[in-house]
Amino acid sequence: MRIFLIAFILLFSACQSETNKQIEVFSWWTSGSEAAALESVINAYQSRYPDVEVINASIAGGGGSAARPVLQTRLIGGNPPDTWQTHHGAELMGQYINPGFTSSLKDLYESEGWYDLFSPSLIDMISKDGHPHLVVLNLHRSNTLWFNKHVLSEHQISIGESLSIEELFQIAEQLENAEVTPMCMGDSGIWATGIMFENTLLGTIGADRYKGLWNGTTTFNDPDVMEAIRVYSQLLDYLNDDHAALSWDQGADKLVQGKCTFYSMGDWAYGEFIRDGFKENIDFGWVAHPGTDGIHLMVTDGFTLAHNAPHRQETMDMLQIMGEREVQEDFNLLKGSICARNDCDRSRFGPYLQWAIDQYEYGVSVPTVIHGSAAPADFQQALNDALTDFVVRRDKDVFAETLVREARASGFGP
Ligand code: GAL
Repeated sequence: MRIFLIAFILLFSACQSETNKQIEVFSWWTSGSEAAALESVINAYQSRYPDVEVINASIAGGGGSAARPVLQTRLIGGNPPDTWQTHHGAELMGQYINPGFTSSLKDLYESEGWYDLFSPSLIDMISKDGHPHLVVLNLHRSNTLWFNKHVLSEHQISIGESLSIEELFQIAEQLENAEVTPMCMGDSGIWATGIMFENTLLGTIGADRYKGLWNGTTTFNDPDVMEAIRVYSQLLDYLNDDHAALSWDQGADKLVQGKCTFYSMGDWAYGEFIRDGFKENIDFGWVAHPGTDGIHLMVTDGFTLAHNAPHRQETMDMLQIMGEREVQEDFNLLKGSICARNDCDRSRFGPYLQWAIDQYEYGVSVPTVIHGSAAPADFQQALNDALTDFVVRRDKDVFAETLVREARASGFGP
C-alpha cells in the first residue's frame, strides 16, 4: 500500500512538473497584424513543444511606449520575462546588455550556423565583446510613404517611382482644396509623429549628415536641420484632425477607408493594410519618404535570453525556432518586414517586400532614433517630449535648442 502511495505521489508530481513547463514571451505586438505575426511564431513553437505553456505577455502601445517601462520595472525588480522584444543598437546595449539583464547567445549562433546566415554587420549591432545577445526576427523599414491609390486617382493624381517634398506639398494643396485630408496620422503614442519627423529629417539633410547627428558632427540647430523642422511643421498642417486620438494602426485604417491619403510610417503599416484586405499596387502604393530614395531607415525586432531566465531551456528552444528560415518567412509575410536571415525565399514575398529587400540590399542603412537604435534612451525620451511640445506650440527654436542640450547631456552632442 505504501509503495503504491509513493508511486502515485511520484507520478503525480511528474505530471505536475510536465504541465508546469512554461515560457513567458514579452512584447508590444497587439495590433491585428502584429498579434497575428507573433502568433505564427508561437504556433511554430507549440507544434514542436505542445506540453509547454506559452505566456504571451504583450502590452499594447505601438513602438513599445507602454511595454518598455513595465519591462524595466520587472528587470530591476529581479522578475524578468524569459525573453523580450527589443531593437538593436543603443536600446539593446544600454537598457539590457550593459546592466547585465541578458545572456550571451553565442553557443546558439554557433550550433545553428547563424554566423553564416545573418550578415556580419547585423551580428555586430547585437553583440558585445563578440557575444550576440539577440535573435533578430525581422528588418523593418521606417521611411516609407504610403498612399491610397483610389483617393489619388479620383483626383487625377498619379505617383511615379519617387516623390519630392515639393511635389508632395503640391498634391497636398490640391487635395486640401478638394476637402480631402492629405496626410494620415495616428499619434496617440507620440512616437508615430516622431516617425514623420525622423523621415523628414533624413530626407532633408541626407544620410551622412543624419548619421552625424549621433556622433556629434551634425548639430540639431544646423540650418539644414532647421529647414527639416520647418518642413515637418508644414506637413503637420495637413493631418487628419483626430490624429491625437488614434493609435498608429487606426491611422493606417483611416488610409484604407480613404479618409486620408498619405501616411509616412514604417512598414508595420503594410502588415495592417494586407490584413485589412487592401491590395498592394491596386488599393495602395508607396514610395520612399521624400528625399530618402536609396536610404533604408532600419528598425529591427529581436528577442533576448534573460540572465537567469526562469525557463532557460524552453527559451533556448523558442529562440532557435525564431531564427529558422521558414518561421522568419511566415512571420515577416504577416508583419510587413523582411527576414533578418539572408537565405529566405524571395519569391514568397509580394511586390512591396521585394522592393524593401532591394532597398535594404542596395541602399545605405541608417539607424532610427525613434525606435531606440541611434541614441540612448534618455535622448529618445527627451525627443518624444520635445515633439509633444512642438506639435502644439510649433516653436522651432525651442525644439532645436532642446535637442542640442539633450544630445550634449546624453554624451554624443557637441
Ligand atoms: C516598432 C516595432 C515594430 C512595430 C512598431 C509599431 O517599435 O519595431 O515591429 O511593431 O513598433 O508597434
